[in-house]
Amino acid sequence: MLGKMAAAVATFACLVVLSSLQAYEATEVLCSQVNGTVHGTVYLTPKLSVPEKYQQITWWFNEPLMILIKKWNQSESYPGDCFHHRLRYHENHTLEIKQLQKQDSGTFRMEVEDSQSQETKELFQLVVYDPVPKPRMNFTTRVNEDGWCNVTLACIVSATQVTYRWCENEKDLVGKNSSTLDVALKSESHASYKCIVSNPASEETGFIYYRSPCTWNEKNSAVPLSLARKTADSILAFGFLLLVHNWV
Ligand SMILES: *[C@@H]1O[C@H](CO)[C@@H](O)[C@H](O)[C@H]1NC(C)=O
Ligand SMILES: *[C@@H]1O[C@H](CO)[C@@H](O)[C@H](O)[C@H]1NC(C)=O
Ligand SMILES: *[C@@H]1O[C@H](CO)[C@@H](O)[C@H](O)[C@H]1NC(C)=O
Ligand SMILES: *[C@@H]1O[C@H](CO)[C@@H](O)[C@H](O)[C@H]1NC(C)=O
Ligand SMILES: *[C@@H]1O[C@H](CO)[C@@H](O)[C@H](O)[C@H]1NC(C)=O
Ligand SMILES: *[C@@H]1O[C@H](CO)[C@@H](O)[C@H](O)[C@H]1NC(C)=O
Repeated sequence: MLGKMAAAVATFACLVVLSSLQAYEATEVLCSQVNGTVHGTVYLTPKLSVPEKYQQITWWFNEPLMILIKKWNQSESYPGDCFHHRLRYHENHTLEIKQLQKQDSGTFRMEVEDSQSQETKELFQLVVYDPVPKPRMNFTTRVNEDGWCNVTLACIVSATQVTYRWCENEKDLVGKNSSTLDVALKSESHASYKCIVSNPASEETGFIYYRSPCTWNEKNSAVPLSLARKTADSILAFGFLLLVHNWV
């Protein structure tokens, strides 16, 4: 819910900037939202085509702040230095922003002045999210009788603006998007549940496993197939080495 609201706000901001520019210029302005995580890196890659011989490219942050100037056939400069060496301009006109901070959220504007002094621009709405922490799993037994094990699973994460998805035995439970999940088991001997918590920039996963009768555990007591396979493979490899060793 909150995640959707943040997205809606960002989209709205994008539209507002766009329409206020269009009020005095009848040109279409490209605008896109880019999502990053705190301490992460984003690449602002323009969709507009930059002519081979341009006069200059300028980047602005939240309108009044000029953050980059690149004149054709000259190296770029970073006026203001408000991003403290966290900006890097690439020859293909992509702008890299490193070690993101929450305050970097805002509107980045790229302006290209071609050899005829015609200007085109593109907007990027950057939203910097906290990375999603790893969820903890919990369960509350509602019913444990007549062979039924009816419980409510909870996926607990200390973060706002996140969305939830659930999988049962690695199959998507379509439409289950709440932090809790009601399950009712009877004939099953075991089952696995996965909760995926995400925001537009990152996701984390929590697991909880069921064993008949009505036992829940964050650790899977059965050896996963892939691990059994790896062990078998390494035994094979070791056997082969022994063989080669004896042979030589
Ligand atoms: C969760 O799914 C229901 C439909 O199953 C939908 O109406 C609702 O908007 C969804 N909520 C979120 C937060 O995505
Ligand atoms: C960023 O997040 C918004 C809202 O969730 C989404 O619409 C958009 O596609 C995302 N942008 C990228 C580049 O993934
Ligand atoms: C580009 O710059 C280099 C040196 O910085 C110079 O030698 C060259 O003549 C310039 N090219 C043009 C077309 O101005
Ligand atoms: C431009 O270069 C950067 C860094 O080399 C790279 O990450 C990015 O994908 C490139 N963008 C395009 C559109 O090729
Ligand atoms: C986990 O569930 C139990 C009840 O089954 C409850 O008492 C406990 O407070 C829950 N723990 C958390 C962290 O929510
Ligand atoms: C447990 O859930 C199942 C499926 O929803 C339901 O049919 C059953 O009556 C429940 N068990 C009890 C004892 O309420």
